[in-house]
Amino acid sequence: MSDTLQSNDKRLEHCLEIQRRLGGERNVDRLAQLVMREMTGLFDAERSSLFLFDWESMELRARFAEGVVGRALVVPLRMGIVGTAILRRELLNVTNVYASPYFNPDIDSSLGYHTESLLVVPLLTADGRILGGLELLNKPSGFFTAEDEQAASDAAARLVRWIERGDYYPAAIEAESIALRNNIGCDRSTVFMLDVPTSRLASLHADGGDGRLISLNMKLGIAGLCAVTGSSLNIAEAWEDPRFDRTVDQRTGFRTRSLLCVALKTASGQPIGVVEVINRREGVFSDSDLATLEAVAGIIAVAIENAMLLADQERQFSTMLDAMTRLMDVHDPLIAGHSCRVAECSVAIGSVLGFNAEELDLLRVAAMLADYGMIGVDDTVLKKNGPLTETEIELVRRHVEITTRIIERVHFTLKYRKAAVIAAAHHERLDGKGYPRGLHANEIPVMAKILAVADVFSALTAKRHHRESVSCDEALCILDAGIGSQFDAGAVAALKQHLANTATPAPLATPSTNLP
Ligand SMILES: [Fe+2]
Repeated sequence: MSDTLQSNDKRLEHCLEIQRRLGGERNVDRLAQLVMREMTGLFDAERSSLFLFDWESMELRARFAEGVVGRALVVPLRMGIVGTAILRRELLNVTNVYASPYFNPDIDSSLGYHTESLLVVPLLTADGRILGGLELLNKPSGFFTAEDEQAASDAAARLVRWIERGDYYPAAIEAESIALRNNIGCDRSTVFMLDVPTSRLASLHADGGDGRLISLNMKLGIAGLCAVTGSSLNIAEAWEDPRFDRTVDQRTGFRTRSLLCVALKTASGQPIGVVEVINRREGVFSDSDLATLEAVAGIIAVAIENAMLLADQERQFSTMLDAMTRLMDVHDPLIAGHSCRVAECSVAIGSVLGFNAEELDLLRVAAMLADYGMIGVDDTVLKKNGPLTETEIELVRRHVEITTRIIERVHFTLKYRKAAVIAAAHHERLDGKGYPRGLHANEIPVMAKILAVADVFSALTAKRHHRESVSCDEALCILDAGIGSQFDAGAVAALKQHLANTATPAPLATPSTNLP
């Protein structure tokens, strides 16, 4: 077999591998990282870029694979220097992390990295709510200065504004992290976000390779041209081509030489972006390279379109759910937020019990919908200021049947299809004395048992029309008394575990911001 045939064979194999990998990914950001990693390898290029088209800003947004991106760091909130800084709500500047009693070396071990100096700034809202933390590692001089602390604090304040404003913050955070790392000149910067249900910090962006975030005006340059015309371009020497926009290279200090760019289109021909590979390590890109990239672009476009459709569908569902719960809150302001609290509490219990992300999502949706039927209960009963009569209790109990009747009419995607059955059983009891069906322990879905605990705990610890709220400890005593008859022991234990994990920690021994 000739070398060319052998190389074509390998390429085909690689293309099929790419197709297999992309086909299974439904998240646009992770998909972007996969695409770029594969492109750089397939074309032996120095860099590959994926630009996605943003119709609102008429811009192409680049997403680069780089350094440790894609290796999501997840660390428990109550562990390590980052968690310490965030819980203490103060900046921590540590010169030798291995000498710090709060340092957790497991992360270094898992990444094959050696941290020396570290600077952490918590991300806090104006009212003190914790959003996460900004972490900078390994200043070449060995320590972060007071100026570095100021720059990181300013960056943290900007990040908080972006996050609170609800902009497309992953891009903003990525740009901010890179700018900060470049300004301060350290090895790596990471943004951790607080994940309330799991009480963990997840890195939203960790930058450390040579990637940069670029936003290009689609009216300029080769990528814009390909996106607008839907055509492909193979440029041997970019700086000699008048269509090439040098400003990005000038801004980033990168020198583009050879360039291959192909448009990405939906099945109906709508442009959704371009994929480009830059600087072939040997020679310039060939016609065969172009044909391969065009074939791969088709695969990428399908994967991106699927991921976007899915994201759109998820967004539609979550906004519909939000609108439904708001309607419930308007109906009775005093129980405003009850469904949200039940959902939060249920997810916390599910997390302790080891549920995966999809299961937690189903639990959250079932919890949000469980009491929806309250909108069908008469106001005079719901808002009565005093104990309810037997007849009134019966009327309130009807909310479960109303919920079931309403949500049974909704077509749920496969992921949420069990939500109606779970919601319908949230007032069932293990001893069969619950309502509406009097199910027994083994007939009640596990998630409904969790909802039952979360619902009662959330209701007891909140003020109601006919009574004041009770303390957490009192509520737990009431739950304990119902274990085996009304409540599932595992769900109650998981709630206690969650409350213990999230209890405000005692003040830490070292007051200094410069830990030893
Ligand atoms: Fe209920």
